[in-house]
Amino acid sequence: AAARLRPDRIVIDGRMRDVHEQNERLRRAGPVVPVELPGPVRAWAVTRNDALQAALVHPDLSKELRHWADWADGRVPRDWPLSNIVTAQSMITKEGAEHRRLRALVNKAFTARHVDRLRPRIAHHAAALLDALAGHAPGPVDLRLHYAYPLPRNVICELVGMPETWHADLHKLTDSLIRVTDDADYAASRMGTLRELFAEVIDLRRREPGDDLTSALIAVRDEEGRRLTERELHDMVMTLFIAGHETTINLITNAARALLAHPGELARLRSGTLPWSAAVEETLRWDSPVAYFPMRYAVRDVDLGGVRIGAGDAVVACYAAAGRDGRRYADADRFRPSDPPADHLSFGHGEHFCLGAALARTEAEIALESLFTAFPDLAPAGPSEGLEPLATPLSNSVRTLPVMLGS
Ligand code: HEM
Repeated sequence: AAARLRPDRIVIDGRMRDVHEQNERLRRAGPVVPVELPGPVRAWAVTRNDALQAALVHPDLSKELRHWADWADGRVPRDWPLSNIVTAQSMITKEGAEHRRLRALVNKAFTARHVDRLRPRIAHHAAALLDALAGHAPGPVDLRLHYAYPLPRNVICELVGMPETWHADLHKLTDSLIRVTDDADYAASRMGTLRELFAEVIDLRRREPGDDLTSALIAVRDEEGRRLTERELHDMVMTLFIAGHETTINLITNAARALLAHPGELARLRSGTLPWSAAVEETLRWDSPVAYFPMRYAVRDVDLGGVRIGAGDAVVACYAAAGRDGRRYADADRFRPSDPPADHLSFGHGEHFCLGAALARTEAEIALESLFTAFPDLAPAGPSEGLEPLATPLSNSVRTLPVMLGS
């Protein structure tokens, strides 16, 4: 398949060795650029803020897989690492009435009002993790592994009704999901195991319903079967887990990393001159947790950013590139929580706007404030630039964030 791809395509480095340099190159090439994703799979990358905003609400760009010509024609390798996302039977790949039906089933649990009620639980999880972290003092310790990772996991597991004793299994599985480009077979087998684990969660909650989302969805499924199929029930629980997990890990990691590298800004946050929400919003723009999100498909020919996207072509949303678009944000490459963006696209836009945005924001604010209050001497254990990136085009973060906790 590689030979069929056009030579003028920008090849996306799936290992993301220099994501911001790659994003700069993409934006410079134009607002809508032909690229080759790892696979190889061809797509149009939407690289600049204005074009991305337009793409996300374009009526002729659909997330329904049936519109993708390369998929229908078998030109996408069946072991393509991102196929789990594009084939999910969830709100992420539906439009119109189907999309609204699925989203409405869980929407209420994620409203700002409901998320506000979770604050004490989130703060409780943060405090427990920080207590455990203190045992590693003075460090070095990997802040991603010991804090950014378990906090959103504990919160989302509680929401979906996963017993705590299962968390150790999850850890092994999700760690491999993060590295989707490393080895397609390995990732696929892990995805299978993750499916089995969530099937067990669903079995458990069928037998022992609780005050969790899975139990609520099972009730809908079993009492009013036509509103939710069994496959949709499974994919919904998986989607909530995956979408609500790695993204938030990345946000907490990227924010902590940015603040450690900008002590002046951190001092303003610690003293209360700046609210922690400002650091969260600026991190979302400056170092978007989602790098490139697959896929939207042109239902008919679409003109976007001066480019004609042919009917059946795939479009990838380059969130991490749009956040540093100098046409939209002054001094876009500088991290400035003292002047956070009035808006950004890092949670998407339009009908598919992130369901979990309020939850993610709340978790990140609590995570940062609790962390930097508990450890006043927290410092990076090495130079920020040398950290290894996550090797996946989906996500933008580092694999580890070694810090010194202080004594
Ligand atoms: C959708 C980002 C956390 C659940 C999205 C989209 C983005 C995004 C960019 C739109 C994708 C597209 O259509 O192009 C983020 C970021 C997060 C985060 C940056 C954390 C920092 C969460 C959490 C949950 C969640 C905590 C909840 C469990 C979802 C779901 C969708 C979604 C279900 C699909 C919505 C739909 O298609 O209608 N997210 N997300 N996300 N997010 Fe999040």
